[in-house]
Amino acid sequence: MNFDQRIDEEEIMDQATLEPESLAGAYRDINRSNELLGGYAATFKALSLQMDTIGQSGPIRILDMGCGDGGMLRYLAKRFKKLNLDVEYLGLDLNTDAISLARENSKDFPEIKYNVSDIMEYQTEARLFDYVLCTLTLHHFSDEDIPRVISVCQNCCKRAVIINDLQRSQIAYYLFKFFSAIFIGSAVARNDGLVSIRKAFRKVELFEISKRFPNWEHSIKWNWAYRYVWVIKNKRPTPS
Ligand SMILES: C[S@@+](CC[C@H](N)C(=O)[O-])C[C@H]1O[C@@H](n2cnc3c(N)ncnc32)[C@H](O)[C@@H]1O
Repeated sequence: MNFDQRIDEEEIMDQATLEPESLAGAYRDINRSNELLGGYAATFKALSLQMDTIGQSGPIRILDMGCGDGGMLRYLAKRFKKLNLDVEYLGLDLNTDAISLARENSKDFPEIKYNVSDIMEYQTEARLFDYVLCTLTLHHFSDEDIPRVISVCQNCCKRAVIINDLQRSQIAYYLFKFFSAIFIGSAVARNDGLVSIRKAFRKVELFEISKRFPNWEHSIKWNWAYRYVWVIKNKRPTPS
């Protein structure tokens, strides 16, 4: 199998014909993978390192692009609540079934809101959010569309965009096959996990994209398990 190039294959979860129950099962498995393989923790750590509450008036606002069933936002809400931080969250996803599920699963989290929206079309008041997250979502886009996704994230972001996505690698592929045989119950998540790795990135590719945004500070770090966390920091954050 060749890992030299990103493959152009649609994931099952992106198909409009997928039944809501199958989608829910796939998100449950993605959430379990994020918990067990450090996906949530990697974003939490990167976000915590960027958090600057000095001079912050009002709540910290976090936007999650491609939020799925909201697993990441619930994880962050629990952790930041323990730190007594005042945070408001908005999750966006193109998939209406995902947003219905996210609302259902987040009933105990009044600080989290959700909207159906296509990232490519999303517009909001400039710099409305302090931090913008994009986890396991960038690889859903083509090479041509990725710069637009980053620009949209930057336009609504005051401080930093945090992208967390997979490394395209043979080792990651076979490790995930092994992991999914034990921990992943849904056929959709098993298939899409493997397709995702083949659609994902090498560090040098993310670095090349970052050169298009010279007015922002970039840091791309490898994290277990076979992920990159790319922090895109606004060099001139506007005061809150
Ligand atoms: C693999 S899931 C990741 C979900 C979540 N961020 C996580 O880490 O568990 C990718 C999500 O991106 C969403 N997505 C794909 N293309 C999108 C677009 N153009 N606009 C908004 N969401 C999109 C999908 O519907 C899906 O929920």
